[in-house]
Amino acid sequence: MAIRFLSKGRTGLAGGALGAAFFLTSWIGCAHPPPPREGLSHPGQLIYFGYANPQVRPCYRCHAVDMRGRWFGGPSLIGLKESDRGGILQKIRQGAGFMPAYGDTLSPQEIERLADWLIGLGP
Ligand code: HEC
Repeated sequence: MAIRFLSKGRTGLAGGALGAAFFLTSWIGCAHPPPPREGLSHPGQLIYFGYANPQVRPCYRCHAVDMRGRWFGGPSLIGLKESDRGGILQKIRQGAGFMPAYGDTLSPQEIERLADWLIGLGP
């Protein structure tokens, strides 16, 4: 990719600048602080924002404060349905790509609560 940018001259530079801007935007997005603990009640939501289990890397770091995804390719988690539950549980337990596996750090109940909460966000 870098080589393609270089060989394209001016356009390549513009592409690089765009890339850098995108990177910065992602970074700033990632730096959004989570909502305060007091406003949250669902057990899944508390895990998502890193309040329930401080040893665990919080989900919002990759899936964003608004759950719409962003960082490290974390996809949007909006619109998941009950029929997606099996896949959600498996993804959280085993991870995939940049998605870490949480099967050893979260209990099966905690993973179910996360799935409950994510499914509840849907329409
Ligand atoms: C380091 C970044 C990162 C963290 C932290 C992270 N995820 Fe992910 N997550 C990803 C990526 C990347 C994917 C896409 C994986 C793939 O399928 O290639 C993903 C996929 C998922 C999916 C599947 C979405 C779908 O539509 O299939 C769910 C559900 C999910 N993550 C939930 C969580 C939860 C809950 C947490 C916290 C316990 C979490 N993630 C933490 C990066 C992350």
